[in-house]
Parts: sequence; C-alpha cells; structure tokens
Amino acid sequence: MADAARAAGFAVFGPSAAAAMLEGSKGFTKDLCTRAGIPTAAYVRVEMATDALAALDRFDVPVVIKADGLAAGKGVTVAMTRAEAEAAIDLAGDGPMVIEEFLEGEEASLFALVHGERAVVLASAQDHKRVGEGDTGPNTGGMGAYSPALVLTPELEARVMREIVEPTAREMVAAGTPFSGVLFAGLMLTADGPKLIEYNVRFGDPECEAIMPRIEDDLAELLMAVATGAPFAAPTLSDKSAMTVVVAASGYPATPLRGGAIDGVEAAEREPGVTVFHAGTARHSSGALLASGGRVLAVTAIADTLANARARAYRGVDAITYADGFHRRDIGWRELGRKA
Ligand SMILES: Nc1ncnc2c1ncn2[C@@H]1O[C@H](COP(=O)(O)OP(=O)(O)O)[C@@H](O)[C@H]1O
Ligand SMILES: [Mg+2]
Repeated sequence: MADAARAAGFAVFGPSAAAAMLEGSKGFTKDLCTRAGIPTAAYVRVEMATDALAALDRFDVPVVIKADGLAAGKGVTVAMTRAEAEAAIDLAGDGPMVIEEFLEGEEASLFALVHGERAVVLASAQDHKRVGEGDTGPNTGGMGAYSPALVLTPELEARVMREIVEPTAREMVAAGTPFSGVLFAGLMLTADGPKLIEYNVRFGDPECEAIMPRIEDDLAELLMAVATGAPFAAPTLSDKSAMTVVVAASGYPATPLRGGAIDGVEAAEREPGVTVFHAGTARHSSGALLASGGRVLAVTAIADTLANARARAYRGVDAITYADGFHRRDIGWRELGRKA
C-alpha cells in the first residue's frame, strides 16, 4: 500500500514493501544484524525442517525456533527441551526458519522514528504478552503496557540507538531500500548489553496506546516530516507515565466471544487522565456498542507516576460494564515492584 500510494504522489508514513522486510522476515533481519555488527542472539537460518533438526545440534537448551515470516504472533517457540524443539520444528512444517540462542534478561521495547539515516527516539515501553495474571497462560498480542520502561535508562536508550537502530538505518540505505516510518525494536536487556530480538515496522499495540498520551508535540506534523523526509527531531515527551489495560473478549486468544454488549465507555473517559481506545468494537444499528474482536478496548491513563496511572486506568476499566469481557488486574507489576 505504501509503495502504491507513494507512486501515486502521496506522502506516506510507513516503510516500502522492501524495507518492511525488517518485520516480514526474521532471517532477513538476522542477516542484516550480522552484516552491520548489531548485537542479537546467535542463530542459524534454514530453508526446511531437516536442516532445522540438524542445526539443533549446535545449540544448548533452551533454544528458540522461529518461523521466518509473519505468523500472527504464533510463529515463535521457546523450547525448554530438545524434544520440544523438535516438535516445534515439525509443527512449523517445511517453511524457512530461524533457530536461535536463548537470551536471558528483561524484555523492553524502544520506538524510533526513522527516515533514511535519520533516527530519533520516540519512546520506550513494556508490555504483558501472556493472557493470565502473573504472566501465565498462552501468548496474546498484548494484555497491557506502560511507558516509559524505566529499565531502559537514558544511557541504555542511547546505546540501543547507537548499536542497533542507527546501524540498521544505515544498512537499509546502503542496500538501496531505505526505511521510513516507525521502527519498533524488541530488545532483550542481557548481561552483555541490549540485544535485538526482532523489529516491527509499525506502532504495535498496546504499546502505541501507552505512548500516544505522552507525546506533547503535534503528532501529525511529526509524522508528516518523517513521511516527506523533512528534518525532524525527537518529540518532547511528557515525564508522566501512561498505562494501558486491555479489555478482551472471553475466549481470547483462542476463540473470542463476539457480540457482547459494552457499556460505560463515556463514564470511563470522565475519569481524570483516562482515554479509551477502541480496538475490537462495533456500533449496532440500535446504537449499542458491541465487541467484535479479541482485544476489545485499550483503557489508557496518564498520571504523574506509574502507580497513579495504574489507579486511574483501573478506575476507567471498572466504570465499564462488559459481562463477556476480561482483563488482567496486574498490569505494570514488574515496574511497580521494582520500587518496593
Ligand atoms: N532469542 C530469544 N531468547 C529468549 N526469548 C526470545 C528470543 N527470541 C524470542 N523470544 C521470546 O519470544 C517472543 C516472541 O518472539 P519475537 O521474535 O518477538 O516474535 P513475534 O513477536 O513475531 O512472535 C519474544 O517477545 C520473547 O519473549
Ligand atoms: Mg515480538
């Protein structure tokens, strides 16, 4: 779409199809890391299952098996045993895969705005991928997030830009496929420093919802500058914290229940600092608001501290009546626990 719209003369915020390979192929990004000396997990890129099984011999467990292409969040297995790794390879079938070393550490995300070789920090965030409290149960697209992630100190942010994001931007220019848009770096903060887990080439949610209320500049102007290649600088970010709590339809992530009635969104938004982003809702002809997806609402609040943002976000959630929905009550536990 970006290519077609650019060809038709529109300014576009977002990468070309060629530059979107940074998300579209794990192997593409791993090879780029090798060329540019970017810290990432040691890996082997294979074309089919038999090669993947052979490559396993080169790794200890745990080991990580990744389908190469887009897989709706279901393409990665962190295998604790060799048997689990073999089962994951069987399940992945005969497509290309990446087998990689298991990295230990805490995960965090850094969002950067990039156009060609120009790259600036947008904001940091952390999310909660598991469906259940205490980070248990199956993986989801994300059940909640907060920004900033204090574990990404200003020093670490600068290091991630210098060692990971900027070399990526340079390498994409050198390859003749410059990147433009938002580059969402998934990072593991290891004892040896930050390492790249993967890139997304878009504002993923729920991190996006937690970042937006912190941007004090005119977002449209900023995105237009990135789109047109005009000079742009890192936006002014509020030093307040924001938290997003996802309200999902019961059955999510497997088979979310559709059509559940939702009430009280306006009441939630009357709570100070609260914004409710609609993710999977539909307006019935009667005017009723109904669930129409897995993740239904992203209830977001901003406040002077993360603890206060959490209190506000949950006041927002509690103002909403949605009998078929559920949410986690412990979003932010890691960050909030740090200060205790
Ligand atoms: N090398 C690794 N070491 C440890 N954990 C990993 C590694 N690679 C991925 N993971 C875990 O698996 C999750 C999903 O992997 P990721 O590469 O982000 O794929 P996707 O988001 O496309 O499913 C990560 O968020 C992380 O928790
Ligand atoms: Mg990911």
